[in-house]
Amino acid sequence: MSGFADQLLFILLLVSVSLSPPVRCLGDGANGKERTLAMIKPDGVSGNYTEEIKRIIVESSFSIVREMLTQLDNEKASAFYDEHSSRSFFPDLVTYMTSGPVLVMVLEKRDAVSDWRGLIGPTDAQKAKISHPHSIRALCGKDSQSNCVHGSDSTSSAEREIKFFFDDVLSGDIASQHDEL
Ligand SMILES: *[C@@H]1O[C@H](CO)[C@@H](O)[C@H](O)[C@H]1NC(C)=O
Repeated sequence: MSGFADQLLFILLLVSVSLSPPVRCLGDGANGKERTLAMIKPDGVSGNYTEEIKRIIVESSFSIVREMLTQLDNEKASAFYDEHSSRSFFPDLVTYMTSGPVLVMVLEKRDAVSDWRGLIGPTDAQKAKISHPHSIRALCGKDSQSNCVHGSDSTSSAEREIKFFFDDVLSGDIASQHDEL
């Protein structure tokens, strides 16, 4: 999108926000829905957990807005985990994330970011099996690296990660976008 189109969109958004009732604020729009990025990592896909995880997602009232099976290469995996690039575990992380296909999904519901984090459980799947036995990581994770699934850790991460994989999908406060459709 050109700079001019961006500016125009921004102005239109400002106008639509300022015309909204005063109680309505960003992030909690008329229908209050939010989007997050979920990923079934290589061990989850190769371990045949995809269908089971999608069943849990739908039963937990998320809608799967988009999904894509993709194979990450070194460059893409490194860019996705850029914030960890100086950490000692980074090379292992990239090797793991490129070891097979991943399923990336955009999930939508009220409080999607925190609810999906809650559903997947603690990062360390070993700990998840003890403290959160019904979590997805307890179901299919192995340890703190091979932990089967990913979830955005904040609404700003969700926005970045959704754009990273689906540059045509809108994130953030989607209520106003629904109003336009
Ligand atoms: C894969 O998982 C599905 C349901 O989650 C199950 O019905 C099927 O038998 C599994 N396939 C294999 C090869 O384990």
